[in-house]
Amino acid sequence: MARFYVTTPIYYVNDAPHIGHAYTTVIADAMARWHRLLGDDVFFLTGTDEHGLKVAQTAEQNGVTPQEWTDRTSERFKEAWSLLDISYDDFIRTTEPRHYAAVQAFLQTIHDIGDIELGVYEGLYCVACEDYYTDAQAPDGNCPIHGRPLDLLKEENYFFKLSRYEQRLLDWYAAQPDAVVPEAKRNEAVGFIKQGLQDISITRTSLSWGVPVPWDDKHVFYVWYDALINYCTAIGYGVDAERFATWWPSVHHLIGKEIIRFHCVWWPAMCMAAGIDPPSQVLVHGWLLVGGEKMSKTKLNQIAPAQLVDEFGVDAYRYHFLRDQSFGPDGDFSYEGMVARYNADLANNFGNLLSRVATVVGKKCGGIGPAPRADSPLADLARESYAAAAAAWARTAPSDALDAVWRLIRETNAFLEANEPWKAEPGPDVDAVMGDALEALRVVAVLASPAMPRVCDELWQRIGLSGSPSSARLPDAAAWGGYPGGLTVTKGEPLFPRKQG
Ligand code: ME8
Ligand code: MG
Repeated sequence: MARFYVTTPIYYVNDAPHIGHAYTTVIADAMARWHRLLGDDVFFLTGTDEHGLKVAQTAEQNGVTPQEWTDRTSERFKEAWSLLDISYDDFIRTTEPRHYAAVQAFLQTIHDIGDIELGVYEGLYCVACEDYYTDAQAPDGNCPIHGRPLDLLKEENYFFKLSRYEQRLLDWYAAQPDAVVPEAKRNEAVGFIKQGLQDISITRTSLSWGVPVPWDDKHVFYVWYDALINYCTAIGYGVDAERFATWWPSVHHLIGKEIIRFHCVWWPAMCMAAGIDPPSQVLVHGWLLVGGEKMSKTKLNQIAPAQLVDEFGVDAYRYHFLRDQSFGPDGDFSYEGMVARYNADLANNFGNLLSRVATVVGKKCGGIGPAPRADSPLADLARESYAAAAAAWARTAPSDALDAVWRLIRETNAFLEANEPWKAEPGPDVDAVMGDALEALRVVAVLASPAMPRVCDELWQRIGLSGSPSSARLPDAAAWGGYPGGLTVTKGEPLFPRKQG
């Protein structure tokens, strides 16, 4: 059986979840659901990144301990993911004992082979990024992302000898053309390595909020160094070798473009040092922008998923972010754009198709859905839609996958308009047309279910099927002719009431 292990970044708990975090998480969820439809064995991991200076400072500003703060904020991510129907298999928190154990085992291994050494670190640091910058990266002494002054830090730290991994990383990239997609991001990662790698400081003494260093109790690990290991913790690193070998290294890490260096340079090197294979793939997407800018707490331009779910519903929310922006480049979010797409794709196309079919079956077929024809003109379109959607999911292009499904929706609407069953007398001709349209809707329910699980369940029930399209199995479930006929079709409330533009 094929296996599919997919991860999101683990999010910092200094902040409540916004639509940028949800963007990655919804894509990961839809991919996990697509692979479940394929019958793959799926493990979908998300979680929260709870250590580091930024979280410690935020807790202090709010007058609570870091543990209280992380307990509270981690819960807000879980609530957001429950609101968005995120079907994760595990939610990891880096303050859990299992994670401490995995981090300590992983890094002790690297210490044992001599690739972690003591040294003195002096550098410019941005707390918001939890990252260091060189003078070249920050010529004015301000963070290039947050625009705020950097702090000068000087500490005796342990260093990971990243410089020793330059050639091995380059060899690995040469041997693995798909290790990082899209290609422009892969080139960016290779570019970092070719510039020359410096050793990285991986511990702190100025801070106690972190995973203790097992061989020196004055130090805790630097937050990024503990965070990356979460991907191994969750699949039993160091405690269940068989389980770990089941899922590793065939993992797909979904990340935003600002954390390429950590995932595409540090992380593969850390894996090599710990004696495990690097991750098989990192999938990098661009930023969701609001008014042309990245959302951030300092700019006060964050939008919470709940604000949009209240207005549009969870399925329309998921659809919008999967469909509107292609995976890779940056894209601007706008409320007006969301209303326009909702009306066009969901109210006018998808919702209208179901409501037409249910109305005509009610009036002309006594409310009982007829069976489709084997040689329906829609059969080839349904096959093409499935093939195109499958190919798009395989290259992590949710927008193209949904576009392929919406082609079938549009063609089915056009087919009804051409045949005008609402004008015809009841009889075999109307039955044939309506059977074909119902079968097209059944295929749509299966193919759209990774994006819109709830509405597709509802559609499934309204055309009289039992169970859920999410438990269907491809490719059989997309094969033409699955709608049996003789089922009660229900005309309910509109799935997507039109919005005033
Ligand atoms: O970086 N557009 O956590 P984080 C698209 N804890 N995606 C966005 C986004 C936007 N405007 N804003 C956030 C961290 N994201 C670390 C990760 S992993 C071992 C540790 C998404 O809370 C995107 O996936 O800053 C981005 O990479 C991630 O949230 C950053 O979340
Ligand atoms: Mg960030």
